Amino acid sequence: MEKIILDCDPGHDDAIAILLAAASPEIDLLGITTVAGNHTIDNVTRNALSVCTVFGIQVPVARGSEGPLVIEQVIAEEIHGATGLDGPYLPPASFDLDPRHAVDFIIETVMAHEPGTVTLVPVGPYTNIALAARKEPRIVERVKQVIVMGGAYTRGNITPAAEFNIYADPEAAHVVFSAGWPVTMIGLDLTQHQALATPELQERVRAIGGDISEFILDTWDFVHTTHNGLLDIPYPAIHDACCVAAVIDPDIITVEKADVRVELEGRWTKGQTVANFQSASGMRHFGGSASAQTDYRTDVAITLDFERFADLIVDSATHLTNAKA
Ligand code: RIB
Ligand code: CA
Repeated sequence: MEKIILDCDPGHDDAIAILLAAASPEIDLLGITTVAGNHTIDNVTRNALSVCTVFGIQVPVARGSEGPLVIEQVIAEEIHGATGLDGPYLPPASFDLDPRHAVDFIIETVMAHEPGTVTLVPVGPYTNIALAARKEPRIVERVKQVIVMGGAYTRGNITPAAEFNIYADPEAAHVVFSAGWPVTMIGLDLTQHQALATPELQERVRAIGGDISEFILDTWDFVHTTHNGLLDIPYPAIHDACCVAAVIDPDIITVEKADVRVELEGRWTKGQTVANFQSASGMRHFGGSASAQTDYRTDVAITLDFERFADLIVDSATHLTNAKA
């Protein structure tokens, strides 16, 4: 089993990431940490607890950072609604929050497990992850890998250049990409163009029946309106679940190595993830002086096995529905 901490900002697609993490026999979900992103920390934390309640699961949920490291806070209310998860019914939490701050939960959990056994899966702005690496640098060597939802090597979604999770805290993203731990970047190139809740997938979820099926369809109904209307995406993009799917089955994606840098200064490009897929020597003036070339080697996701991904979603919803019965 892969031990993971899911750091998220629920968020409609974050909920599907929780679904896969909770249902998979391949995953030991050590905890969920929340971060301000799609909406305020109060809303995303309340939503995380409600989503766990709908799915009938209880894992440690620790509340995290209230905003980005440096810039003014940006939330995505236009996409996720006034609660951060508009659309589905969100029941009151069936359990209490873990008393620790998310950053302390991440540090304590990583330090309490054998080196190389815990995977961090941030699918909101990377504020908590960056703060944890700064507060306890030893976690960088100890973490097995960091699989992030964020960035894009082609086009953005909140600006032409930037993807929301990076744009909402670009300095935190710089810390994460440059820390030195193994990073896999699953960006919009895969999630927004290959991981969509197609009508066929929605019909398979509908056929399951029950409140989990209804919850999933209600999330997709809501974001279909905002994704299609504002982002020209034909069906809801199931961004965050792609990261959990890649933990469950690493072969579900293909990757290419690239040196990934986060733009921190551009007037029109702040938050862009600039990926150099050429060998380090090929771009001697990228990322610092030619002689002092450092290299933030990152596995950048290129393609998704959508059929396998869709099966994971259907199997996860079926499993949790049966478990609740
Ligand atoms: O750009 C997509 C990302 O931003 C997803 O993680 C979504 O939940 C939002 O946080
Ligand atoms: Ca998210």
